[in-house]
Parts: sequence; structure tokens; C-alpha cells
Amino acid sequence: MTTTLLDNIGQLVTCDPSVGDGSPLGLLGDAAIVVAEGRVVWLGPVRSAPAADVHVDLGGRTVVPGFVDSHAHLVFAGDRAGEFAARMSGAAYTAGGIASTVRDTRAASDDELEAGAARLVREMLASGTTTVEIKSGYGLTVLDEARSLAVASRLTPETTYLGAHVVPAEYATDRDAYVRLVASDMLDACAPYARWVDVFCDRGAFDADEARTVIAAGTARGLLPRLHGNQLEAGPGVRLAVELGAASVDHCTHLVDADVDALAGSSTVATLLPGAEFSTRAAYPDARRLIDAGVTVAIATDCNPGSSYTSNLPFCLAVAVRDMRMTPAEALWAATAGGAAALLRDDIGVLRPGARADLAVIDAPSYVHLAYRPGVPLVCATWKDGVRA
Ligand code: NIG
Ligand code: FE
Repeated sequence: MTTTLLDNIGQLVTCDPSVGDGSPLGLLGDAAIVVAEGRVVWLGPVRSAPAADVHVDLGGRTVVPGFVDSHAHLVFAGDRAGEFAARMSGAAYTAGGIASTVRDTRAASDDELEAGAARLVREMLASGTTTVEIKSGYGLTVLDEARSLAVASRLTPETTYLGAHVVPAEYATDRDAYVRLVASDMLDACAPYARWVDVFCDRGAFDADEARTVIAAGTARGLLPRLHGNQLEAGPGVRLAVELGAASVDHCTHLVDADVDALAGSSTVATLLPGAEFSTRAAYPDARRLIDAGVTVAIATDCNPGSSYTSNLPFCLAVAVRDMRMTPAEALWAATAGGAAALLRDDIGVLRPGARADLAVIDAPSYVHLAYRPGVPLVCATWKDGVRA
């Protein structure tokens, strides 16, 4: 067993409140970490660090848990730069744009889809993201959804079946038949590659009854539920997610009091996706209201070619601080431990003995610089499973 000592860490963010300053970020100054066989085996003050086989001096930089991007749509072909430019000239974002990515995705080979998704995963790693959830949802046939998930499963264990993204054009006059397909043959083909089942429950996509049908079928096959809800309007998605015991409900842009109350009384995480509001020029979700009500909040990129074509979680964190009034500490927690909670994982998003040795080295004296220096590539090294990526 080779042990590696990461030494001379100026500020270590553990997200373990039982260490360091006792805050949710569990901050330690002048710290060191020892990793072995993909796991953290020790962390603490530099002066008490044990000897190790390999020694890496981090030069007083900051170390944070690897970012956990719990919401991304990486399996697709083509892009929608024209749609983005039109939107920046005043056109509205609608779920309808998804259809053009569906056309391109169906026409692409498996190798093309995998190369595109792998490129985005590499971008994510370079910006400190060590875990990413990847959804299907641009195939919308049995074959194209299954091959999308097969691609996703080669890149991450956190794979999500999103056959219920929108009703494809060929089912426009018989949406019930499409919902039946999603809940039967398509699910059968996709379930072997998926951990999660998701539905886009919103205007222009699926209503609450349709979402219920798909989630019930998915959970009967052993998949775990999560939902897209309340992105485009204050619909039923958030409360449905809580009712169904979903691990997370994502977007949460338009909320009424009953949505906040439901989330506050539940273990469902509210995953906020500031890249989507940024790229669709929409009003941001009310993060303060959620946090002040006691809701667990995560931040993710929503990386997709339509509403949020960024793979950069530090950018989303900076937007959340600047425009959603989250503190730098809350935003960092949401992009690490919050993302882990949204994926029901306790081995990531945190640095403590036994956790995965997934971390990002920030070339700055404190984590606050992630928001203070927006757009600057401060992540100078990413370690995944104890190995520098
Ligand atoms: O999360 N909301 C639904 N799906 C994506 C958008 C997909 C697209 O526009 O291509 C989202 O924002
Ligand atoms: Fe999404």
C-alpha cells in the first residue's frame, strides 16, 4: 500500500463540522492529508502528519473536497449556439429547443456521443469536479436512450434515466403512448445502466400525473427518484418530489410558500442550477429563502447544450454568491457536501478518514477566492481516487 502525504496546505476545507473551526466547512489551517488506495486515511495539522511513501508540498494553497456536480446532461450531439444568440437578443427559453438536440443525438454514433461526453467530463475535472451525475434525455427512443445511458455509465456511476425529458415529435398527438413507453420498454432497456430515474415536470414537458407514472415504474425497477421541478413556472414538481421521497428536486426557480414548507419538512435536497438562469437570462431561485427555512441546498451546473452550456462548477458557485445571495461558505458547501447529499453519497463532498480521496487544489490563500475571483481558473490540480488527474 503506497501512502501519499499532501503537505503544507494553507487552508483545508473538510466539510466535516466535527473538525477544525467547527463550522459546516470544518476549516483547518496549516494542514496535511494522507491518502492511500483511493481513500483519505489521515488529516490534521502539518506538525502531527505521519510519514508517507510519497510527499507532495502544496505550497500553502487551499484544498477543498472535489466538487460534486449532481445535475448534468452530457450525452448529446451538436450545439445550440444560434438559440443562445437569439435568446440574448430577446427570444424566450422554452423546453421546445430540446427537440433540435434530440435530432442531432439520434444521428450521432455511440463513439461520437462518448467522445463529446468524455470531453465535458475532462473539462469538469480540470475545474475541480470529481463526481458528476449524467442524464439521458436527448435520445427519446428505446435504442437512443439505452445507448445514451450506456455511454454515461462508462463515465460515471451516477447515471440517470430521463426518457421523460420531453414528448418527442413523433408522439405529439399521443403523449399517453409515449409515457407508457417510457414506463415500460424504454425503462427495461435503460434500467441496467441507470441508478436514478428523473422526469422534467414543468410547462411544455410532463405534468404531475405523468411524472408519477414514470417515477413509480422506475422505482419499481429499483431506480432512485429525482425530479426537475419548477424551472419554468410554479408547478407541482417540488411538492411531488417531496411526496415521492426524491433525493433531490432540481431548479426550484419558481417557488410558492407551500413548496418551501414541503422542502423544509423533508430530506429532499433543493438543487439550484444558476448556470441555467444565467444562460436563459431568467430570475435566479431564492436561495436565501430556502436556506433560511432549513432546506438542504446543492449547486450543480445543469451542463447541457440548451439552457446551461457550462461545465464549470466554480463559475456557478460564484454566480450563486453574487446573484443568489449565498455566502461563499454556503456556496462551497452546496457544491460539495450538498451535491453529495443530492446523490445520497457520504463518501464524497467531504474529506475525512474513509472518504474518497477526491479533492481540488485552489491556487489561493482561501476558498473565498473561488467567488471573489470569478472566471479565474484557480483550480491548479484535481485528485480523484487518490491520484492526480
Ligand atoms: O435542465 N429542464 C430541462 N432540461 C434541461 C434543458 C435541456 C435543454 O434545453 O436542452 C435543463 O435545463
Ligand atoms: Fe436539467
